Amino acid sequence: MYILGIESSCDDTSAAVIRETTILSNVIAGQKVHAEYGGVVPELASRAHQQNIIPVVDTALKRAGVGKEELSAIAFTNGPGLLGSLLVGNSFAKAMAYTLQIPLVQVNHLQAHVLAHFLDKPGEVKAKPQFPFLCLTVSGGHTLLLQVNDHFDMVKLGGTIDDAAGEAFDKAAKILGLPYPGGPVIDRYAKDGDPTRFSFSISHLPGLDYSFSGLKTSFLYFIRDNLKENPNFIEENIHDLAASMQHAIIKSLTDKVRKAFKDTPCKDIVLAGGVSANSGLREAMTELARRHRKNIFLPPLDLTTDNAAMVAVCGYFKYLRGEFVGYDVAPYSSDSAQKPGNKA
Ligand code: KG4
Ligand code: ZN
Repeated sequence: MYILGIESSCDDTSAAVIRETTILSNVIAGQKVHAEYGGVVPELASRAHQQNIIPVVDTALKRAGVGKEELSAIAFTNGPGLLGSLLVGNSFAKAMAYTLQIPLVQVNHLQAHVLAHFLDKPGEVKAKPQFPFLCLTVSGGHTLLLQVNDHFDMVKLGGTIDDAAGEAFDKAAKILGLPYPGGPVIDRYAKDGDPTRFSFSISHLPGLDYSFSGLKTSFLYFIRDNLKENPNFIEENIHDLAASMQHAIIKSLTDKVRKAFKDTPCKDIVLAGGVSANSGLREAMTELARRHRKNIFLPPLDLTTDNAAMVAVCGYFKYLRGEFVGYDVAPYSSDSAQKPGNKA
């Protein structure tokens, strides 16, 4: 069985072909156009998706060595994300499924990040997390602590009340004058920095919720005040600033995971989403799991950020359940904006 996955929820146009859970191709076209604006410009993103979608799907099929008439279904991200961007993947998937007369499967982007752990690379069948597992999903748009009972039974234990963890990385990078997306850049600078040199205040919310906007503000004021004294403050301290900011974000994330351990029956801990590429977070979560005798599952680096293989595997599990959608299905920007009849 071959599934074509399509991802276009933000600023990456991606298409992948999988055979059951094995990745045959996973093509990602990023969008450099946003770099000069320091963040994603929705209108430019949708236009770039329109330019990219046909060559990206074509390349994915060619690399997989699969003809379009061999596909069993098309899975596409239908939300949450930028509506204009989602619409490109949604319309393309519908048109292609209609032409080929094959089933159409809608995928929730966040579920796809989690289910990326069920993908295999050719020639390798790796261990999978066992249900129920605890999953920290951290990306540019989301920060969620989930108890995953089944492929599609994901219970939210906590989440951010304002900025997402990836946003905190990106905004900190912007304050330091670093390019977008800032997370990988901060990660690189942090490797040679002292994480204890500066301390930034973290909001401690009760329960398992997160807040990152206070951290961003305290970082902004700290930098602004120090620049008044020394205009070269950023250049002279860039490594320690990146390491200290990264440390604060990681501490906030891991504190709640540790707290969640107390009440969870889960033995396996899973990290998902773009920020799961962060080397400091991967180390901290591995150490946390070791101390609490849990098994840790880190996604391979090429499956951390947005990609269509994770969409395809989510589509595969829905295909097995016969969960298909009609051509009238509309994209949704947030989970709460999803129409009840549209839930899958
Ligand atoms: O999952 P993703 O590709 O898109 C969303 O669904 O949002 O995540 C993108 C986010 C960006 O905020 C980016 O800065 C962050 O993931 N990111 C990182 C790293 N690599 C990507 N953050 C910290 N360290 C990294 N190495
Ligand atoms: Zn994502």
